[in-house]
Amino acid sequence: MSATILVVDDEENARLIITSFLTPKGYEVIGAATLAEARVQIERGAADIILLDVQLPDGYGPNLLEETRRLATRPPIILITAYGDIDMAVDAMRNGAHDFLQKPIQLARLEETIVRAQEMVTMRRELAHLRKAQRRGQDFVIGSSPAMRSLLDQARRASQASVSVLVTGETGTGKEVLAHFVHDSGPRADKPFIAVNCAAIQSTMLESELFGYEAGAFTGAEKRKPGLLEVADGGILFLDEISSMPMEIQAKLLRVLEERAFRRVGGTNLIKVDVQVLAASNRPLNKMMADGIFREDLYYRLKVVDLHIPPLRERKSDILELVGFFVRQNNARMGMNIIDITPRAVDALRAYDWPGNVRELRNAIERAMLFCDDPAIDVIHLPSDMLAKTV
Ligand SMILES: Nc1ncnc2c1ncn2[C@@H]1O[C@H](COP(=O)(O)OP(=O)(O)OP(=O)(O)O)[C@@H](O)[C@H]1O
Ligand SMILES: [Mg+2]
Repeated sequence: MSATILVVDDEENARLIITSFLTPKGYEVIGAATLAEARVQIERGAADIILLDVQLPDGYGPNLLEETRRLATRPPIILITAYGDIDMAVDAMRNGAHDFLQKPIQLARLEETIVRAQEMVTMRRELAHLRKAQRRGQDFVIGSSPAMRSLLDQARRASQASVSVLVTGETGTGKEVLAHFVHDSGPRADKPFIAVNCAAIQSTMLESELFGYEAGAFTGAEKRKPGLLEVADGGILFLDEISSMPMEIQAKLLRVLEERAFRRVGGTNLIKVDVQVLAASNRPLNKMMADGIFREDLYYRLKVVDLHIPPLRERKSDILELVGFFVRQNNARMGMNIIDITPRAVDALRAYDWPGNVRELRNAIERAMLFCDDPAIDVIHLPSDMLAKTV
């Protein structure tokens, strides 16, 4: 979604320069020469972001700050101040201005400021649940950064084509969330999604869980038990932490992927299955291959589509949208009504490098809301150990 920017400035030339700079970048730009004209556009809900000159023919620009605060959408306002008028700018920021630009406007600074304001708009939309396309299921994958968009596109294709997928990424980047997304966005959505955490199951158990067993296959196997591969038939088998899968089981899994059939433990019958296999790992499989503890043939068989989720610190433009999503979720769950986050808190969230990725962000927001009695989350509500590590 690209934002509509309202430029409020009585100088036509100033409006033109801004318009011709922003339009080719995909923004819609509308102009207003007076406060009265600006109010009409704002009233119509036409403005996502407002660039506002201070001295206007019919009044003082910053008056709009007060007027827009009541609006549900609260378009971020960026003030255009005279060179050196820092006091006024600081005052306006205190009154809720999003940012300020000094004249003469530096276009690089302008773009940067607009990009930040756009993230704020996305966050507020997410928070107010104004998102247009509702996604299926409860596992939304939030992220408008180019990296996430391209990942979701590849995930949709993999889902349609029912091919094997390897999801990699650091802890907390959303590998499991993305696996659910693959399930939700294709022809297998109404069929089972069976998740197996290979690190949580003892290796001997893992084999009988996956492949099942015949009665008498081993001591304790009294009755025949179908394997999860059978349970997942028609749907998806999600092998989480695949790096923990022992080599012998890796070999058996490879055979399943190649023959689309398998035998239960202690069984002779070949059982045909139609299962799409998704695997996830937060450990580097290529290093494990080099060390001889992960099969190369299986690796290549799994990663027909390779979805690598970049760490959050490499896609910081997703942070605010995620925050909006989590705040709305927690508002509903905790019976709260947080409606915003202060610019200083936004800066702190952006400055931190999030080693625990999205999971850590989700927890930080939940904690902040627990300690927040105001309508907006501020820096003081954020975890102190996180703040200590931001620069
Ligand atoms: N893109 C996203 N949109 C919404 N929520 C997300 C997203 N990515 C992660 N999350 C949230 O972060 C939490 C952790 O994600 P997930 O369990 O998928 O991480 P993971 O990559 O599997 O981590 P690990 O390697 O530790 O298992 C999820 O419960 C979810 O709340
Ligand atoms: Mg996981």
